[in-house]
Amino acid sequence: MQREEAGLRIKELQNQLHYYNEQYYQHHNSVVSDYEFDQLLEELIGLEAAFPEFRTPDSPSQRVGGTITKEFPTVYHRFPMLSLGNTYSEEELQEFDARVAKALGSEAYEYFCELKFDGVALSLTYENGVLVQGATRGDGVRGDDITPNVRTINTIPLRVNAQGMPQTFEVRGEAFMPLSSFTRINREREEKGEALLANPRNATSGTLKMQDSAIVAQRKLDCYVYSLLSDQLQLNTHADAIALLEKAGFNVSPTYRLCRSIQDVIKYIEEWEFKRTELPLETDGIVIKVNSLAQQSRLGFTAKSPRWAIAFKYKAKSVATQLNDIEYNVGRTGAVTPVAHLEPVLLAGTVVKRASVHNANFIADMDLRRGDTVYIEKGGEIIPKITGVEFSKRKPDSMPIVFPEHCPVCGTGLVRKEGEAAHYCPNERGCPPQIKAKLEHFIQRRAMNIEGIGERTIEQLYERGLVHTVADLYKLTYDEVFALEGFKELSTQNLLAGIDQSRQAPFENVLFGLGIRYVGRTVAEKLARSFGSIDRLAQASFEELISVPEIGERIAQSILDFFSQPEHKQLVQELKDAGLQFETTKQAEAPADGPLTGKTFVVSGVFANYGRDEIKEVIAQHGGKVTSSISSKLDYLLAGENMGPAKKQKAEAAGVSIITEEEFRSMIGIES
Ligand code: IVH
Repeated sequence: MQREEAGLRIKELQNQLHYYNEQYYQHHNSVVSDYEFDQLLEELIGLEAAFPEFRTPDSPSQRVGGTITKEFPTVYHRFPMLSLGNTYSEEELQEFDARVAKALGSEAYEYFCELKFDGVALSLTYENGVLVQGATRGDGVRGDDITPNVRTINTIPLRVNAQGMPQTFEVRGEAFMPLSSFTRINREREEKGEALLANPRNATSGTLKMQDSAIVAQRKLDCYVYSLLSDQLQLNTHADAIALLEKAGFNVSPTYRLCRSIQDVIKYIEEWEFKRTELPLETDGIVIKVNSLAQQSRLGFTAKSPRWAIAFKYKAKSVATQLNDIEYNVGRTGAVTPVAHLEPVLLAGTVVKRASVHNANFIADMDLRRGDTVYIEKGGEIIPKITGVEFSKRKPDSMPIVFPEHCPVCGTGLVRKEGEAAHYCPNERGCPPQIKAKLEHFIQRRAMNIEGIGERTIEQLYERGLVHTVADLYKLTYDEVFALEGFKELSTQNLLAGIDQSRQAPFENVLFGLGIRYVGRTVAEKLARSFGSIDRLAQASFEELISVPEIGERIAQSILDFFSQPEHKQLVQELKDAGLQFETTKQAEAPADGPLTGKTFVVSGVFANYGRDEIKEVIAQHGGKVTSSISSKLDYLLAGENMGPAKKQKAEAAGVSIITEEEFRSMIGIES
């Protein structure tokens, strides 16, 4: 395509995608299918990569990220980003109102109330209607310029063209991780055995500081805006500013309210105390602002915060109760989890009897003792947490809780791996709760999907010595099952038929069912697809394992550990003999005669047409192999944008060919 033609097409695509984005994110209107949208976006990204001079800062291609920032530049805020004074009671609020009334003399005034969003404050600068900078609050005077990451937030307009909106202005708001994204990400992380994100606010701030904006884009952050600053504006009230922001397509939470008096404000606070828990994000209070901008400037600021605004913080609901005992549960992997047994108490509508106490460190740090009066709160989690001890009520003869040294069930000495907080019972094959939990894991729907076996049946099968490993299930006879409590002819037949049918369950289900640590369902699917059979997986080296997209070092090590143990090899053999599927049926393995067969690649940098995992898969689909280390045995270093100079030097020294994305594409038959 000629340069001129490309320029026109890029402009056209940018406008079209802007329009679709605006319709979708501002008017909740899907004009095109996701597929069509992605096709157009892909075309735009491809063209911009070939003709980068047409890539503008407000191009919709910026939404998908791909920029790597090693260090974020520091930027000074034009107006300092202050914080708010806090109040916790109606009295304190009345005092704030009295101060406002006094300062304004006899003038009438109104308040504008908003929720206090619990995320990370952002400053967004627009010049000539285009978003040119997104920065964090930092210390209030200067923050980090995180523009590429901010551009990935879909509800922040990249360009604005609304009547009444000045050309140059600054918008402030709160970036947040919607609770739905937070739970999804943590579920995925749990499956991969990665550390969980502590709470949505930390998750947001961690995400915004990531170096690779493509990952930020996947995290699906959102942003509510709450103020508009500009020298070129003549507005009378904060309500006017909010209305203008809404009109210009910014995301304003519809939860605000104009209140005529402090009594109205109190009503608003009461109304939102419970309703706020139904919102898609975490909030920790209410922000109350004097509505008139002229009055705001008369009230002015203290050194830290405005006199015209204040935050009201909701108290987390907390009650005191007695800690009766600590119970230690042993899970499938042998991890020993302590759980607090409490004197039952009513908290936010439910009776609470248990609370999580996580691990030995938590118990020691809190200095928990049996008989203590403890405070419990409900956070985002379903199980309440212990937040403190009432030391004034401690019994003089109480003793610190000592974490057991032996497994509470089988008595084996517990071990603690370096760098891990949990204690483990290493008696994998002899510890009853571990064995039973392994069986339960194996039969579940997402694994072997064996119907007709419940927890009670597993209990019986184990107690009667019929089943010790999952392979024993396939040796059960009719008479053995029929003899179990509660089993008749039909239920016996059903159970045996369920076990028999599970022999057809696909390889990825079997692999997941084996319960290898950190191999969750998604990881099992990826491994099954990449290796195609248990034998190939069992023989894979650390290097080969980590070259699979999304398989990290921790998972790789766990797989190596699993297959290094003779009893696991024996288990797999017994299951093979029982007729289970240990190979993928779909031929996902590398073709023997693809254009890249026999060639090895190291992939580095960012690509215009592919995500990093995607390009690895494309290589594999065409017969190539991806590794992670550069040596003279390597065939190609596939270099994207922003590849580190060290890799390049190393490849040059080793005599490895360095190829561009375009060259790679022509190798697999795609001409740009
Ligand atoms: S207005 C002078 N409105 O709270 C500060 N802030 O403690 C004016 N926040 O840094 C800020 N929701 O990150 C305002 N509706 C809201 C808010 C809000 C959350 C955060 C913001 C700010 C902090 C102030």
